[in-house]
Amino acid sequence: MAAVSSVFRRGLFNGRVAVVTGGGTGIGQAIALELMYLGCSVVVASRKIERLESAAKDMRSRISQQLSLAEGTGSNKHAPDLSVVKCNIREEKEVQRLVSSTVEKYGRLDFFVNNAGGQFLSPAANISHKGWTAVIDTNLTGTFLCCREAYKQWMQENGGAIVNIIADMYKGFPSMSHTGAARAGVDNLTKSLAIEWADSGVRVNALAPGSAIYSDTAAANYGDIDLFSHVKESHPTKRLGRVEEISGAVCFLLSPAASFVSGETLYVDGAGRLYQRMWEIPEHNKSKAYTWEEDSKEGSSNSHTTTSKL
Ligand code: ADE
Repeated sequence: MAAVSSVFRRGLFNGRVAVVTGGGTGIGQAIALELMYLGCSVVVASRKIERLESAAKDMRSRISQQLSLAEGTGSNKHAPDLSVVKCNIREEKEVQRLVSSTVEKYGRLDFFVNNAGGQFLSPAANISHKGWTAVIDTNLTGTFLCCREAYKQWMQENGGAIVNIIADMYKGFPSMSHTGAARAGVDNLTKSLAIEWADSGVRVNALAPGSAIYSDTAAANYGDIDLFSHVKESHPTKRLGRVEEISGAVCFLLSPAASFVSGETLYVDGAGRLYQRMWEIPEHNKSKAYTWEEDSKEGSSNSHTTTSKL
């Protein structure tokens, strides 16, 4: 069974409670596992409950094996709990229920990790209105609803920390412009909420994983499209990132080590965003330079320039 570990000290999050949306697969699962390893009870939420239940079963056994190995006994009084909740984050009522059931069950909600998201590859010109709206609803509006409910139902009175997982859209996001726009919205939302909710002791940060983070789920989502092999050669690290390199950074942002960090976006991409070319532009001659020579030729034959220019 695959190991779970952390660079942080065991027990760091004992007695804490977190919600991780999209916590049954890929990066979300690694975040949930590391939080549990550190003592935090976790509610993982997803639209697909059967897949989530089966992932949760596996996660529970990985954690219980890991914790009992570490303790040297079969029991642990701080054993963290893991529950699953079916929730479509696009639906306001379902988000309200996700938060209220968490607070009812555990009596608190310390951390909220907005990891659920979804998009599809397409040039912008081919994205339908429906496809665009679906991606914005999930990635931007869904994240907003989750932040708002976590705040209103618990964190406004009790404080807490939120981490919004976004994407590496620093240079635009050609081929997934919808998600780039939505994630850039979340990037800005993060800053607004960090200010508006500071007086409740709520920290709000974002984390942008690079496009070179490998997970089986991400690979499967794009089917035959191989997103990863070319990334590796053109990456400063000459390797792919791992999900535990994201979960550790999330745990840092949730931990007291980041108690003075809020409104920040942490790029965890091995400098990939600074180095990579994201889109091949075919050879073309469509970009017309502005020149004074051409402009004055037009001016002599065109009366508007003589009247409209100073
Ligand atoms: N993962 C992808 N889309 C989602 C949604 N709408 N709700 C919850 N998890 C999701």
